[in-house]
Amino acid sequence: MNLEKLKADPRMPKHIAFIVDGNGRWAKKRNMARSMGHKAGFDNLKQQIDFVQELGIKNLSMYCFSCENWKRPQDEVDYLMDLFNQMLDEFKRDYLSKDIRIIISGDMNDERLPKVVREKAKEIIELTKHKTGFIVNPCINYGGRQEILKVANELLAERAQSVDEKTFEKHLYTAEMLPLDFVIRTSGEQRLSNFLTWQSTYAEWYFPKKLWPSFTKRDLVKALKVYMKRDRRFGAVKK
Ligand code: IPE
Ligand code: IPE
Ligand code: MG
Repeated sequence: MNLEKLKADPRMPKHIAFIVDGNGRWAKKRNMARSMGHKAGFDNLKQQIDFVQELGIKNLSMYCFSCENWKRPQDEVDYLMDLFNQMLDEFKRDYLSKDIRIIISGDMNDERLPKVVREKAKEIIELTKHKTGFIVNPCINYGGRQEILKVANELLAERAQSVDEKTFEKHLYTAEMLPLDFVIRTSGEQRLSNFLTWQSTYAEWYFPKKLWPSFTKRDLVKALKVYMKRDRRFGAVKK
């Protein structure tokens, strides 16, 4: 892979997002428990985070747990919470010495989240908030509609009289991130499932069939090449 050429391309996106879907199906195909699919998905996520940074992409969001995922069996939810706990430990171990900022989108005050996850999440956000390099944004206990309601409630509490887009965006979890350019949802599902509702209005979408644990660096490069061929017009007429 000629990464240097890719990295130097001015059409490279600045903020990409993964909807890491298909972990359960990946495990089922191998006669394994769904949790094993989540473990494999989590291991892949770590590699992908490093690769996205290596590519010089400035911001990465990833959908790890939706507000609707609480509907899953308790043992699966518990397993995912253990993985998030481990992920936060690894972020702290590996990222504090680097120029990486962690933002977490989602309600971190929700008491359904284990206390240790809520505390570690807040800690890593605080410890990295001064960093100016790569931003990693895991979306945990996140929903696009819930985020919009959060903003509305904060504006009501401020007794705002009228609101424009700029003011609204200041209240989003992603306020300090760049505009979202590209969303990749693995596993072939072609829906948003309540992900980054406000932010994705003009993002490009890509739906590879591969299940998340099998999605490789090469697959990401292929996706980026597809993205770079797209013509983003934002409603205007192409010159
Ligand atoms: C996505 O994989 C991971 C999370 C929702 C945490 P799934 O668990 O949705 O996998 P499938 O869609 O059942 O295959
Ligand atoms: C979306 O995937 C949420 C995450 C990847 C975390 P789901 O598997 O939960 O979405 P649906 O239920 O297929 O829409
Ligand atoms: Mg799924």
